[in-house]
Amino acid sequence: MTLGSVALALALVGCGARGGEPSAPSSPAPGGGSGAGGDLGATVYQRCAGCHGPQGTGGSFPTASLVNIERLTDDQIRGIIENGKGRSMPAWKGRLSEEEIAAVIEYIKKF
Ligand code: HEC
Repeated sequence: MTLGSVALALALVGCGARGGEPSAPSSPAPGGGSGAGGDLGATVYQRCAGCHGPQGTGGSFPTASLVNIERLTDDQIRGIIENGKGRSMPAWKGRLSEEEIAAVIEYIKKF
């Protein structure tokens, strides 16, 4: 038994533990979102979290990550929310008010 083989064994164990699952405990959202869309945005986002994940990282749909959403303009984001995108992103026009959409846009831009 050499030190080298111990190190190798440890390395293998380390690899087995890979996968980087964010062990997110179901903690309440960090204290009072300041600025536009604080509470309303959070409330509206509950309808999105099932697919987009509580932190906007994608949840059950890897393609639904919102962490990079700042690359889009507000108008582009609004268009996606109103009209949907791809096969799984529903259109929300008529189901959310202008105000709710504006609030949720501000909310998802903070991810
Ligand atoms: C039924 C699942 C589902 C729900 C509910 C849902 N989405 Fe999505 N959303 C998706 C998927 C899947 C995509 C990725 C679509 C694609 O790129 O093909 C997406 C894409 C998006 C995008 C574009 C992301 C990007 O980077 O291009 C935005 C913005 C978005 N969703 C916002 C919302 C908001 C806001 C809500 C709640 C009002 C919501 N979604 C609810 C599944 C969902």
